[in-house]
Amino acid sequence: MTRSDSNSISRSVMRENEGILYVGIDLGTSRTSISASNGVRETVDSVVGYPRDVVSRKLLQKDVLFGQEALKNRLALDIYRPLEKGVIKHSGAAGAPSEDVSNNLEAARALIQYACSLARPEPGQLIYGVIGCPAQASIHNKQAIIEAAREVLDSVVICSEPFSVAYGLDQLNDCLVIDIGAGTTDLCRMKGSMPDEQDQITLTEAGDFIDQTLYELFQSRCPDAAFTLNMVRQVKEKHAFVTEAAEPVIATFPVRGRPTEFDVTNEIRRGCNAIVEPIVQAIDRLISTFDPEFQDRLRGNVLLAGGGSRIHGLDRALEEALRPFGGGRVRKVNEPVYAGSNGALKIAYDMPVEAWEQLR
Ligand SMILES: Nc1ncnc2c1ncn2[C@@H]1O[C@H](COP(=O)(O)OP(=O)(O)OP(=O)(O)O)[C@@H](O)[C@H]1O
Ligand SMILES: [Mg+2]
Repeated sequence: MTRSDSNSISRSVMRENEGILYVGIDLGTSRTSISASNGVRETVDSVVGYPRDVVSRKLLQKDVLFGQEALKNRLALDIYRPLEKGVIKHSGAAGAPSEDVSNNLEAARALIQYACSLARPEPGQLIYGVIGCPAQASIHNKQAIIEAAREVLDSVVICSEPFSVAYGLDQLNDCLVIDIGAGTTDLCRMKGSMPDEQDQITLTEAGDFIDQTLYELFQSRCPDAAFTLNMVRQVKEKHAFVTEAAEPVIATFPVRGRPTEFDVTNEIRRGCNAIVEPIVQAIDRLISTFDPEFQDRLRGNVLLAGGGSRIHGLDRALEEALRPFGGGRVRKVNEPVYAGSNGALKIAYDMPVEAWEQLR
């Protein structure tokens, strides 16, 4: 155990005695994860569903459903995915219809509340949360997240998602974190103090972008087959790779109602590779504008997190593509699902009292 681990744990014991539950929340487009000071770690798909009418309300016996349960019953529900590109939908758009804004804000609030309920706080226990949001979320977006958290948390701090990943792994110095989510890929270089705008780049080339690219490639490869974006994502999550496939990737899609097999190995490789070039360009930009004395240390310590980091061979493909730019060492984090929320929890332990924004 490192010294900072033991520090965090002793702080955790001390702070739990204060009657406060600390939580770290990774509020993602596709998935929301929570790590709590009572040891609970949970994750839920970022989907909120409300029964459409009295019939569906009677059938489902609930006012609101979340995650997989909402998706399973989606035909009977009004479905919201409140976080688009990692920020609350429409919260940055001045001209968006106000009903849409308030509906998405309400869905985000419900989602944060549900995530906190998964952490099983004691009745009456105060909840202090650190919420990770995309690196370049505007002040306006952050305010929307604080608004959504207001009724659920007693105190909140918003931090950038890649920063929380780095903090959780004790990589605060000379490290470049790349968080490949659904809506965005967030890159953040760590220099031993809070990152500012120049230290962060957000790309839209992430999981959803790969899904869309694969969908188009599959349409050319299997023109008669019927499939949805969701089915394409499932194939991707099972087989994603960028270097050499150990065996062919076979997808089964119906053709005029008959299940038919297609070899989509090349399409998967091409689709997943579509994020490599933009990521390498962004890495190069962050390294080349860093203090020249520390550039080599930064390029030697690139960390991949987020669901997209599970693409087989992505670390090696990035190293290969970085060669003409001076090379680099790329590693994947061990726990892509909880790296963000674990880091946010660690920030919560270490946060000085005056830094917390009191919500009530
Ligand atoms: N095994 C896998 N291979 C490739 N991609 C995967 C795999 N598992 C999950 N993904 C993709 O990772 C993305 C979700 O990652 P993650 O859960 O980190 O995103 P998020 O935090 O919800 O999104 P964001 O950070 O953009 O708000 C989705 O696009 C998903 O399809
Ligand atoms: Mg994320």
